[in-house]
Amino acid sequence: MKKHNFNAGPSILADEVIENAAKAILDFNGSGLSLLSISHRTKDFDAVMEEADQLFRELLHIPDNYKIIYLGGGASTYFYEIPANFLGKKAGYVNTGVWAKKAIKEAKRYGEVEVLASSEDKNFTYIPKGFAIPADLDYVHITSNNTIYGTEYHEDLSSPVPLIADMSSDILSRPVDVSKYAMIYGGAQKNLAPAGVAFAIIREDMLDKIVRDLPSMVSFRTHVENNSMFNTPPVFPIYVLKETLRWLKSIGGVPEIYRRNQEKAALLYDEIDRNPLFRGTVVKEDRSLMNICFVMAEGYEDLADEFMAFAKERGMVGIKGHRLVGGFRASCYNALPKSSVEALVACMQEFAEKHAK
Ligand SMILES: Cc1ncc(COP(=O)(O)O)c(C=O)c1O
Repeated sequence: MKKHNFNAGPSILADEVIENAAKAILDFNGSGLSLLSISHRTKDFDAVMEEADQLFRELLHIPDNYKIIYLGGGASTYFYEIPANFLGKKAGYVNTGVWAKKAIKEAKRYGEVEVLASSEDKNFTYIPKGFAIPADLDYVHITSNNTIYGTEYHEDLSSPVPLIADMSSDILSRPVDVSKYAMIYGGAQKNLAPAGVAFAIIREDMLDKIVRDLPSMVSFRTHVENNSMFNTPPVFPIYVLKETLRWLKSIGGVPEIYRRNQEKAALLYDEIDRNPLFRGTVVKEDRSLMNICFVMAEGYEDLADEFMAFAKERGMVGIKGHRLVGGFRASCYNALPKSSVEALVACMQEFAEKHAK
């Protein structure tokens, strides 16, 4: 049976990316060696890093005064590295859910944290707006897409202080004005690669704002100056990331993927709004294009388990909502084809026909 992969992360990658990765595992660049057993300090791997850098820049229009680094440790490592590097006195954080809270917790180890806005009052079902950003902060931190709750910023914030964004779950899914950010970072295991690598795009002047003497591995300067080769980088995920960037370019880059993502999301949100058995959990203007959360509508709550089993029988994978939200979450990352969303919509319609009162 055809499987429809709605996993929240690690998640779906394009078929051709997986095929190319499989080939490189067997024979990397005709070298007679597996990608899994080459040295990272070789010309061939240098070329992989260079191509990834160039494609990332091209696809996201990253200005020349930004550097891209790739590290192990996931986005969670950046939760403490960011304040370790930049939090001298006080930083501002926007609390939009679990991942923002984890970032806040780590930041408090290094200095004062001002929570500028929060959507906790409504279980993080919206993105706070219109809050002031004091000019005396070292930086302000946001989570651009909230994977668990399905909320997303649809506009780049303007900030008088350096703006840092966790874009783990919406990087390269929509256009972003990189010049508005001092740093963008994230785990790559949603839109870019398998688990094991986290990226950061850092404006160069931020390296002069490092506030304390740090262990070499924690300092962003170390990794920028060594082109992510201070220690052994995650070779395999970086290779797959490069393949994903190639794939993204081949289909028309960010404008085309954004069009596809909007189309897929509209299909599913329209069904959620139309179908009497389901309802969305997020205020409409803040709905994520990537993680689409919904629950059984009032009066149909007891059908949740039955729908889950019904969907599973039809090939839907990974649609169980996070335990903090309940219900369902369909993650519609870049590589998810429209046909998978159509299959989920058909499944919801079939289920409604069976149960409509
Ligand atoms: C928005 C966001 N930030 C951070 C993380 C944590 O990433 P990692 O597991 O790479 O540390 C996740 C993981 O799902 C996430 O969705």
